[in-house]
Amino acid sequence: MDDRIDDLREKKADARKGGGEDRIEAQHDKGKMTARERIDYFLDDDTFEEIDQLRRHRSTNFDLDENRPAGDGVVTGYGEVDGRTVFVFAHDFTVFGGSLGEVFAEKVCKVMDRAMEVGAPIVGLNDSAGARIQEGVVALGGYADVFHRNQQASGVIPQISAIMGPCAGGAVYSPAITDFIFMVQDTSHMFITGPDVIETVTGEEVGFDELGGAQTHTSKTGVADFAEPAEEEALDDIRHLLSYLPQNNVEDPPRVEPWDDPERDADVADIVPDQPRKPYDIVSVVDDVVDEGSFFECAGDYARNLVTGFGRLDGHSVGVVANQPRVDAGTLDIDASLKGARFVRFCDAFNIPIVTFVDVPGFMPGTDQEHNGIIKHGAKLLYAFSEATVPLMTVITRKAYGGAYDVMASKHVGADVNYAWPTAEIAVMGPRGAVNVLYRSELDEADDPEERHQELIDEYREEFANPYTAANRGYVDDVLEPTDTRRRLISDLEMLRSKRVDGPSRKHGNIPL
Ligand code: COA
Repeated sequence: MDDRIDDLREKKADARKGGGEDRIEAQHDKGKMTARERIDYFLDDDTFEEIDQLRRHRSTNFDLDENRPAGDGVVTGYGEVDGRTVFVFAHDFTVFGGSLGEVFAEKVCKVMDRAMEVGAPIVGLNDSAGARIQEGVVALGGYADVFHRNQQASGVIPQISAIMGPCAGGAVYSPAITDFIFMVQDTSHMFITGPDVIETVTGEEVGFDELGGAQTHTSKTGVADFAEPAEEEALDDIRHLLSYLPQNNVEDPPRVEPWDDPERDADVADIVPDQPRKPYDIVSVVDDVVDEGSFFECAGDYARNLVTGFGRLDGHSVGVVANQPRVDAGTLDIDASLKGARFVRFCDAFNIPIVTFVDVPGFMPGTDQEHNGIIKHGAKLLYAFSEATVPLMTVITRKAYGGAYDVMASKHVGADVNYAWPTAEIAVMGPRGAVNVLYRSELDEADDPEERHQELIDEYREEFANPYTAANRGYVDDVLEPTDTRRRLISDLEMLRSKRVDGPSRKHGNIPL
């Protein structure tokens, strides 16, 4: 028996070595951890239970049968994050460059299936050279098996991807279907075709970073949500993100022990400037309303005119969506609509109430936006808010103009509680634009057009650009003193906790894609 135990221990020790010392050293030289080091760092201490450590590939192509490392290039299993179960797979770049073959894919599918069955999040730590060339179409089939599970798991369990090395070709489509993508600056890249292929086909010269590095994907394409300076920060932030999320779509998000007085005044009285066109930072408003230090911004470098992230109200998780007057005056454009829609749908899928702060002068004008489909893309945000059945709480801090008023979680599209601050201006358009349309001929004939223009603007502002018409109609439930906002939202959240909505029966809606 002892011999057998020794033999088993040897086999497991061998499996843990992955591609061997040299390749581990090469991995470290690139500033990267190994798959096992990442898992150890990520999970609570000593909680990792590995599955399929001893599996080996069955391919004989290209003499592959002469090299059958245990584990086949991916480490899979489960463990705990803050005491809650999380499934994990980590590509091992030291084995065949972390490339995916038949058995590799089967291992990933097995943990994804298990995560679905038990209703726990799955976190993928990606570092792979893509489909294992020697295994041909079997590798491609393996990818598709993973993609299909990503789609099946979408909206059922949180799926989070960290990109910690190359992620190219078809391999990108697994992370792309997941809910959040974390990239590591300098060492991670995502692209469909690499720089060499691009140069061969189109003649265009581009480097790895510019093409598909962390900065590109978090600021330009919006493919990834977080660009982290190092792997440790990425793994820390994934743990932090998970703390706001439920384990699955039939659980409520966990409440943490509250540390901030639910009755305190929000320190927001002087944030909104008296001058309607003067910018201010909506994040200061969010920070002061939610529990102190709890706001965790997502996709902060992309479409900065709309802020999205998670926070807590009296210890409960909420999603936050907010126009950012500091960037493009908070207008909604294509990127902001995409970012907002995806975030709202994530929160709705996972029972996370949404607080929306509105200060929006409208949709971004221009041929660039129109010709790139702002109609279709803006409709996504409208669709997402309209479809959401989680508690929706909306605070209009200043401008809510035109269609953007409707889109930003208005009462009309299904929000539960809607508030305005006394500084709110709720109207079809801003005073200047409205006066230009309504009084063009009068202004053309005026003795002093400039003076008359200003008079009309002041009249319009007095009449329409305020929250009281909306309050008279019940489109906002109340006009709040800003300092009361926190208290009121916490009370509403409690009231809305048992909200249930049954939508019409259908296979699925047809969101304008
Ligand atoms: N299938 C099988 N083995 C692969 C592989 C693949 N797709 N990609 C890399 N490998 C192997 C390499 O042969 C090498 O093996 P060795 O150490 O035994 O020589 C090992 O993985 C490491 O690859 P290497 O190229 O030395 O690493 P690198 O860090 O210099 O480059 C990549 C990494 C990803 C840029 C490079 O390997 C690459 O371009 N691979 C092909 C990517 C691709 O087109 N995949 C198909 C997309 S679906």
